[in-house]
Amino acid sequence: MKAILFRSGTLVDPLGEKVWEADLLVEDGRIKGISKGLASPRGAQVINVSGCLIFPGCVDVHVHLREPGGEHKETIATGVRAAVRGGFVAVAAMPNTSPVADNAAVVGYVAARGREEGWSRVLPIGALSRGSQGEELAPLEEMWRAGAVAFSDDGHWLANAQLMRRAMEYAQMLGVPVISHCEESELTRGGVMNEGITATRLGLRGMPAAAEEIAVARDLVLAELTGCHLHVAHVSTAGVVRLLREARSRGLSVSAEVTPHHLILTEEAVQGYDTNAKVNPPLRTQADVEVLLEALADGTIAIVATDHAPHAREEKETEFDQAPFGISGLETAIPLIFTELVHKGIIGLTQAAARLSLAPRRLLGLPGGSLAEGEPAELTVIDPEREEVVDPANFASKGRNTPFAGWRLKGWPVGVLLRDRWCLVRELPGAGREEI
Ligand code: DOR
Repeated sequence: MKAILFRSGTLVDPLGEKVWEADLLVEDGRIKGISKGLASPRGAQVINVSGCLIFPGCVDVHVHLREPGGEHKETIATGVRAAVRGGFVAVAAMPNTSPVADNAAVVGYVAARGREEGWSRVLPIGALSRGSQGEELAPLEEMWRAGAVAFSDDGHWLANAQLMRRAMEYAQMLGVPVISHCEESELTRGGVMNEGITATRLGLRGMPAAAEEIAVARDLVLAELTGCHLHVAHVSTAGVVRLLREARSRGLSVSAEVTPHHLILTEEAVQGYDTNAKVNPPLRTQADVEVLLEALADGTIAIVATDHAPHAREEKETEFDQAPFGISGLETAIPLIFTELVHKGIIGLTQAAARLSLAPRRLLGLPGGSLAEGEPAELTVIDPEREEVVDPANFASKGRNTPFAGWRLKGWPVGVLLRDRWCLVRELPGAGREEI
């Protein structure tokens, strides 16, 4: 790969907790040099990124790419382009496809399709149980050999504690995390939004916070029993944050993620029966949002993940009760985090880079996540001042289902470096325009 020199960027290194202005040179898939006034090697591509932030490449640990079987909602081809447009150099794909990625063949297929596309890297997650049905263990080691980076029955909670214990024991031996979708399903049966006054007013059946908290509590106990690393997906309640704090204070190997929508919206977004705000776990209350923001700032929740859940328009354009759960999140995550958290002073730049790059990489055992010589040449370049109105019609994703349509957001990704290739996705503040 030819050398690329990023001129006059503002570098954000979450590991050294440093923000500074410098040039950054990459060559042969690695960061080769960082300093002011770097000479450009012969033949190097020079990209003026003045006014832009350079983050180590952002990674989304929770996406649904729908292939195989759900290609009317999303394909790996459209999903990886959506990831690049959203500023993500790698995405971890949940196994709730059709067939479910519960064996080496499907896991290998997803990984291979990702490699063929060659945009954002696709890291497959294997199911914990066959068909994610919660009855029989899936062949975890085979899937790990085929490239699975974690195991999860996302979309369902593995209610059988004995099966979860066994899965965690295997995952622990393989050195990969178990990602749990925490939802006690007897408590949420038939529910379509958060349980509470708003649900009562709207005449919709609620899903109580307790359903999520009970599941997290059990999984933490099993994580302690097995020594397996537990990663709690899409945390949405204050009670879960309390449980995580207690577990972390006792040194358990546990991490957690939160989505932009759970950090920014409340159950009020469901008023008007907007099916784009129907998501699982459901949007909760302002009190929950405040605790989630605190937890993200203090590191109790170290990862922002999108839970990118694309659905076809006709599936969402139906009665609230009937619509599928999910928000198409890849292309709005970074601007939402900038607009609502960074620009409002809730988290700083190095924290944003830690939550979007360093911590996701650590969870999945990926190198990188910092800006230093020798680190992988994976970068996300963000224009913190760029303002744009969210228009789902311009999404690369097939999923246009977002409650953020029409929001004016400030702070957009302008390009990503994917080791072998620079992809410009918006114009640089001082340069011409190219499109992917
Ligand atoms: O809202 C959601 N949608 N939550 C999930 O857990 C699954 C996801 C999907 O696959 O659509």
